[in-house]
Amino acid sequence: MSDIYEKIMDLAKRRGFIWPTSECYGSVAGFIDYGPLGSMMKRNIENAWRRFYVVQEGYYEIECPTIGQEDIFIASGHVKGFSDKMCQCPACREYLRADHVAEAHQVAGASAMNKEELEAALCRLLCPACEEPLGPVEVFNFNLMFETSIGPGSQRRGYLRPETAQGMFTDFQRLLRFYRDKLPFGAVQIGKSYRNEISPRQGMIRLREFTQAEAEIFVHPGKKEHPQFSRYAGYPVPLLGITQQEERQPPVTSTMAQAVANGMIANEYVAYYLALTHDLLVSIGVDPLKLRFRQHLRDERAHYAEDCWDAEIFSERFGWVETVGIADRTDYDLRAHERQSGERFVVFIPYEIPRRERRIRVVPEMGALGPRFRGKAKAVADALSLCNPGPEGAHLTIDGEEVFISPDLYRVREEEVEVPGCEITPHVIEPSYGIDRMIYAVLEHTFHEEIVDDEERRVLRLPPSVAPVQVAVFPLMNRDGLPEMARDITLRIKEQGLLAEYDDSGAIGRRYRRQDEVGTPFAITVDYDSKEDNTVTLRDRDSMRQVRVPIDGIAGLVRCLIEGSRSFDGL
Ligand code: GAP
Repeated sequence: MSDIYEKIMDLAKRRGFIWPTSECYGSVAGFIDYGPLGSMMKRNIENAWRRFYVVQEGYYEIECPTIGQEDIFIASGHVKGFSDKMCQCPACREYLRADHVAEAHQVAGASAMNKEELEAALCRLLCPACEEPLGPVEVFNFNLMFETSIGPGSQRRGYLRPETAQGMFTDFQRLLRFYRDKLPFGAVQIGKSYRNEISPRQGMIRLREFTQAEAEIFVHPGKKEHPQFSRYAGYPVPLLGITQQEERQPPVTSTMAQAVANGMIANEYVAYYLALTHDLLVSIGVDPLKLRFRQHLRDERAHYAEDCWDAEIFSERFGWVETVGIADRTDYDLRAHERQSGERFVVFIPYEIPRRERRIRVVPEMGALGPRFRGKAKAVADALSLCNPGPEGAHLTIDGEEVFISPDLYRVREEEVEVPGCEITPHVIEPSYGIDRMIYAVLEHTFHEEIVDDEERRVLRLPPSVAPVQVAVFPLMNRDGLPEMARDITLRIKEQGLLAEYDDSGAIGRRYRRQDEVGTPFAITVDYDSKEDNTVTLRDRDSMRQVRVPIDGIAGLVRCLIEGSRSFDGL
């Protein structure tokens, strides 16, 4: 087999991690099935994410529909602008992502090129599918959202969501009330997102249906100091900032406090989530030597964003892969939904001490308005009290009709009033994770091959909290009461909430290899001595060391090993 990707995909298919979807009908690119072990590993990674964001940060999880009405995506900008540039090969008719074809031929800056620039670049290149010249192909925009209709008769247009984020924005007002009207607060969502990618050829890296885990943290625009910053202030992270990229330098490793102090990272919130992301990714098995944080260049960053970084993970097959995006999106999203919906997306911030301010008050002269406007007099009076009249009078719109009110119909008073606070539109800090890319990275980084006893051993060195099966239990022989003892131990471990697998088929060495290959961190073998002295062997996957431990208390011991409160070396 040629490279690590093929080895991992072979293992993943054979052992039930990842399968091509609906294979019996010929699978479709961009969709995958998670098999029994893959689903379990995915849940474990999602739960690791929850331990950071829900348990540690206290940002509650919400769950919104995966289909959204058109207004949501008009507001978010996806209807107008969520497209990639595409072309069609004139020879084989294959649709191609224009910037990817150019990039594959080392054309610099292809992702930032416009239609004309890409057409000029593609003219000289070969089609990656059939290797015929592309010639003067047309480049056009292709919107990546899957469109659908809601209800019969195509009455209402809808889209499959291209990100989970919009649910947290559209629920903003309810979330604000849930968090008792106080900033900062956050909400998170883990779920499926859909993008009709043009030519997804990168396995789990580019999917048409994938899982995102996103947090939207709403903060006061003038207070971007994270209340728990001290947790990660001294945490070192490899940073490939704008300067390093422009000067073609390697990443610099900096603590978060230094990076905020010297202005490399815009604020404490962004820095905090960079460090938390590093912490999280390493805890699930990403190799810290293959992890860096790259800042978006000025022309790559969205115009409204204050700062934006990608956690990039190195893959031997795919190079540096963007796996998490962390952005300070300012008030862009809330203001966009405010405009589209007509609702207010603001937070009332009380002043510490109410302020006294001078205000103009317009007092209608009802005695004069009544005879002049009769039935409309009250509507005119209400509109007057809200308006700011000019020196010549006030121009009002009453029931769609323009009305001029001369100054003799009202009095203007200047008053000093007590103002208890002000309304602000919060800024949003968004860490956005791609779960499938994280899973692929963990598989690639934890996969090892070695020769043991003249045989090849393939092992996934998955952290115990991520491994789909946490303990395997084997009877040495299929007789003499050993299976009963092993089944009893399996049951006791399951009672601890761990996933234990009983396996009695094949030679014991083969059973160890099978579990090593799927990353099971510990294996217990019941043998003839177990009947005599009530002990079993406990084997550690990584060192392959075995120790004898009493059966009494084994379930609790295994739990401590999985949770990390005890180490195998200390046994
Ligand atoms: N709300 C922001 C947002 O969606 P994004 O950079 O487009 O940002 C976030 O997506 C993450 O989602 C990416 O870093 C990546 O891990 C994952 N992702 C995006 N498109 C994907 C695809 N086609 N297949 C698999 N994962 C994808």
